[in-house]
Amino acid sequence: MPASITIAIDGPAGAGKGTLARRLADYYHLALLDTGLTYRAVAHMLIEKGWPLDDVAHAIEAAKLVDLGHLDRKVLSAHAVGEAASKVAVIPEVRKILVDKQRAFAKAPQGAVLDGRDIGTVVCPDADVKLYVTASAEVRAQRRLAEIEANGGSADFTGILADIVRRDERDTGRADSPLRPADDAHLLDTSEMDIEAAFSAARDIVDRALGS
Ligand code: C5P
Repeated sequence: MPASITIAIDGPAGAGKGTLARRLADYYHLALLDTGLTYRAVAHMLIEKGWPLDDVAHAIEAAKLVDLGHLDRKVLSAHAVGEAASKVAVIPEVRKILVDKQRAFAKAPQGAVLDGRDIGTVVCPDADVKLYVTASAEVRAQRRLAEIEANGGSADFTGILADIVRRDERDTGRADSPLRPADDAHLLDTSEMDIEAAFSAARDIVDRALGS
C-alpha cells in the first residue's frame, strides 16, 4: 500500500457513505472528514444569526469562520440544517473557501478519507481511490425512517421520500460542482446491501485499487 493514501467518497444523501467513510478510515488508519458538516456549519451560523440562506456576504463570512477541528456533529446533524446546507452549497464563493480547507485536510500525513458530493470531481481529483455510493431514493427514505423510529421519533415515508428527491435535485442540478460520479469512480449501489456487505464491497474496491 502507498505510504499515504486518499480515498474520495461521493454520493447522494442517505446512501450510507458517511458510515462507509468512517469504517474505511478506521480500517486503513486514515484521517476522516465529512465535508457535509462544513456546509452544514455555514448554514447553521446563518440560521443562528437570523440571516437569510441566500445572503452571500454573510455566507462568505461564515465559511471563513468554519474550523474543521470544531464541527459539532450533534448540532449540525439536524434535518433542517441539512436542507439549509444544500441551499448555501450553491454559492460558488462559499464552495471555494470550504474546498480550500478540505484540500488542506486531505494532505494529512497519514492519508485521509473525505466524503461529500464533489470529492472525486473537484476537491481531490487525484485521489488514489474514488467511490460513488448510491442507493435508490426509496431505500434511502426507508433507512431514514427506520433511523428516526429507532430514535423514538415518527415521520411519514412519503414526506421523507419527497425531501430526499428534492435534495437530490438541488445537489445534481446546481451549476457549481454538481453531484456526479467522477469518470474514474467505482460505483457501489448499496440498495440491496446491509452495512457489513457494503463495507466489505468497499474494502475490496480499495484493496484492488491499491494493488494489495
Ligand atoms: O452530506 P450532508 O447531508 O451532510 O450534506 C449536506 C449538504 O451539503 C448536501 O445536500 C450538499 O448540498 C452539500 N454538500 C456539498 N458538497 C459536499 C458535501 C455536502 O455541496 N462535498
